Amino acid sequence: MNLFDVYPLYDVTPVSAQGIVVTDDKGTEYLDFYGGHAVISIGHSHPHYVKRITEQLNKIGFYSNSVKNPLQEELATKLGQLSNCENYNLFLCNSGAEANENALKLASFHTGKSRVIAFTNGFHGRTSAAVAATDNPKINAPINLQQKVTFLPFNDLQAFQVEIEKGDVCAVIIETIQGVGGLDEPSTEFYQEVASLCKANKTVLIADEVQCGFGRSGKFFAFQHHDIQPDIISVAKGMGNGFPVGGILIHEDIKASHGMLGTTFGGNHLACAATLAVLEVLEDEKLIENAAHLEGYFKALAADIPQIKRVKGKGLMLGLEFDFEVAGLRKNLIHNQKLFTGGAKDKHVLRVLPALNITKAHLDTFFTALKAEL
Ligand SMILES: Cc1ncc(COP(=O)(O)O)c(C=O)c1O
Repeated sequence: MNLFDVYPLYDVTPVSAQGIVVTDDKGTEYLDFYGGHAVISIGHSHPHYVKRITEQLNKIGFYSNSVKNPLQEELATKLGQLSNCENYNLFLCNSGAEANENALKLASFHTGKSRVIAFTNGFHGRTSAAVAATDNPKINAPINLQQKVTFLPFNDLQAFQVEIEKGDVCAVIIETIQGVGGLDEPSTEFYQEVASLCKANKTVLIADEVQCGFGRSGKFFAFQHHDIQPDIISVAKGMGNGFPVGGILIHEDIKASHGMLGTTFGGNHLACAATLAVLEVLEDEKLIENAAHLEGYFKALAADIPQIKRVKGKGLMLGLEFDFEVAGLRKNLIHNQKLFTGGAKDKHVLRVLPALNITKAHLDTFFTALKAEL
């Protein structure tokens, strides 16, 4: 059997990784400034993470959601404390798309309505409602187009008000900082107006924090830069540092009923242990503070490079905008400088999404390599 050929691949085969260093099958070391699509939050194979998952596996790796799992409660408590979201309840699943799928479904259950407002250039995943709310016709099959979704641009309050006041919108879904699209984000004023119009129109506000959450923006959640309180917050990626886990934080005003949502694998013992390990390292090593601190250092170094038109993003969710397409530059950074970076839908943006425990010295290395290739 062959693999279903959907991924264009770089000719690199990682076989081990530690911290920010990824080693391939030939023994070549690469510096990872991409974290496998913003997934590696506390560094590859962090010793505490390895220990916690190993110990858990030696006890029990999985049982279904039909029995008690105290690790889920421990996780909900710790997540509530660290994120300052104690007035939310947690539902666990396995990926970012699944988190958004459940968020949208829950919004529709809760309001009895079915239209969604999403934003231009957004990405929410590849499952049914999530992909329909993703502004990319190429990844929407005819079956997905049955969903009712209206795409609006950021910062156009008038257009937003007209749409939401039609009264049929169950959810507004927004990536607080766009990832795949290329690091765009609307103004604080826009966020606050959107939040208050959602309340006034009994519409659920979903913050998609799959990529920008779990400390990456320099606050636990990126919406916390804007002083708003979404009704549902979706999380995945950095949450498990590579272990497949996702979830939604649901404001306590939205009530659960048995059978409303469900999953076989979501919230299993190993996923909880992985996520608890991530939270413990984020807290013990003050990694959110580190992400916030390094943003300024990164932006100062970027300001010295004339080819960079603009630096976008927050914390360690950063994008460098050039006046040329960056595919060739990314290839050269991998092959000549042994350095992984990311691209975006906006082909002029180079995405930088390293583990949150990198240092200034790593950023110095990054910019030396970048200058060499420019
Ligand atoms: C903001 C955002 N939401 C959702 C997803 C989908 O996550 P997953 O690939 O885990 O389904 C992604 C993935 O890139 C993302 O960046």
